[in-house]
Amino acid sequence: MFENNEAYKKTLEKYVPKFPLNPRILNLGCGVCYEGTEIVNHFKGTMLGLDDKEYIINSAKTNNNGSTEFKVINCRDLSSLTESFDIVIQRHPLVSGTWQEVFKQGYNVTKEKGLLFATLFNLNEMLYSKKTLPKIGYKILTCEQNPYATVCGNGLFKIGTDGFVIVAKKEIKKKTLIEKLKEKIRK
Ligand SMILES: C[S@@+](CC[C@H](N)C(=O)[O-])C[C@H]1O[C@@H](n2cnc3c(N)ncnc32)[C@H](O)[C@@H]1O
Repeated sequence: MFENNEAYKKTLEKYVPKFPLNPRILNLGCGVCYEGTEIVNHFKGTMLGLDDKEYIINSAKTNNNGSTEFKVINCRDLSSLTESFDIVIQRHPLVSGTWQEVFKQGYNVTKEKGLLFATLFNLNEMLYSKKTLPKIGYKILTCEQNPYATVCGNGLFKIGTDGFVIVAKKEIKKKTLIEKLKEKIRK
C-alpha cells in the first residue's frame, strides 16, 4: 500500500457525502493512480482513469488490479467519452489556467447532482478552484484545509498531499428567460 493511502481513505470517509451504490467514477489526471483501490472500495463503484501520458497510463494499468479501466486522453477535451459519471475525482490536478477547461470538461460529463471530489496541494490552488467552479455551474459543498493532509517535499517546497479538499455538486442549471422563450418559439 502507498504511504498516503490511509490518509486518503480517511479523507474520503470524512468528506464524501452518502452516495448511491455502484456509482460510475471518473478520475481526471489519475497518474499512476495509487489512490485507485481506496476510491473503488470507498464508493463501491467502477472507475475510469484518464491521463494524457501513455507511459503513466501503462504504469497505472500495472499498479491496479483490473477494477479500473485506464485511457490516454487529454482531459482538456473529453468529447470522445460516450458516458456520464456520478463522481469526478481530481487528485492533485496541478491547477493552473489550463485546468479551468479541465474543470469544465469534467462538469460536462457529470450527471446532474453528481459530485466533484478534488484534493489540492496548496492554498493558491484551492483559491483558484473556489473562484472557478461556481462559474462553471458547480455548487461548492466543502472547501477547506484537510486535517488528514500529509507533508511532502521539504524546506521552501513543502506542500501538502491532499492539503485542501473541495467537494462540489453539479447544479441543475436553471434556464434563463431567454432560453425559455427560445424553447417556446421552437415548439
Ligand atoms: C500531480 S499528478 C497527480 C497524479 C495522481 N492523481 C496523484 O495524486 O498521485 C498530475 C497528473 O495529471 C496529468 N495531467 C496533466 N495535464 C493533463 C491533461 N491535460 N490531461 C490529462 N492528464 C493530465 C499528469 O500527467 C499527471 O499524471
